[in-house]
Amino acid sequence: MRKKIVAGNWKMNNNLEQTEALLSELSAKLPDTHAEVVVAPTFVNLTTAQRNLQSSAIKVAAQNMHFAESGAYTGEISADMLMNIHVDTVILGHSERRAYFGEDDALLSKKVQAALEKDMTIIFCFGEELEERKSGNHFSVVESQLKNALFDLDATAWKNIVLAYEPVWAIGTGETASPEQAQEMHAFIRKTITDSYGADISDEVSILYGGSVKPGNAGDIFGKPDVDGGLIGGASLKADDFIAIIKAI
Ligand code: G3H
Repeated sequence: MRKKIVAGNWKMNNNLEQTEALLSELSAKLPDTHAEVVVAPTFVNLTTAQRNLQSSAIKVAAQNMHFAESGAYTGEISADMLMNIHVDTVILGHSERRAYFGEDDALLSKKVQAALEKDMTIIFCFGEELEERKSGNHFSVVESQLKNALFDLDATAWKNIVLAYEPVWAIGTGETASPEQAQEMHAFIRKTITDSYGADISDEVSILYGGSVKPGNAGDIFGKPDVDGGLIGGASLKADDFIAIIKAI
């Protein structure tokens, strides 16, 4: 059985007090669930989050990291530093990193390697832009994002990989992919992995959907057979909405 996951990417939101308040509300309201629940606060609040969630089932992830172990990379954070504070999960390849910080497949491949060397779990994001979907290129765009960053990995590495398909046109826009569009792409992603690594591996990879998931649409999206959960942005900032989304899985 593939792992179900609901992850909240808080992006550049929530100061220290807001982080503590949201974490304590989430811990108090967390329902019994078969899904793994993850939150990704900003770097400066990761330690606080780890401490506050020590006795909770909620896991903490980082939103990004550098590929180097250490060195003269002003403003950056390494895998070692994350592992040192017991954060063993990192989001890589988010479309905002790609669009605003110039992260391309080659850089992401290095980050993936660096995270794997420390045995971290990677939530790897990818997805097409609106023009690419309109022109019918969304499958080839997604395929090349996956192949360029992940398909040189050994088969054993896939146990550390969670995929998050996030069509860029659906992120923060209120416009979500329909459950059918999500399922169609997730099935394509799984087949692409099967073709290179075999069904034993592709059947085990959790593929999350991200892009304007809300309490009102989560159930329909999560109900699709190849959708194994969600990477939630805006709705993960409100405890009641995030809890409702967790309940929908
Ligand atoms: O990482 C999360 C995604 O960017 C989705 O964000 O739920 O605000 O559309 P959103």
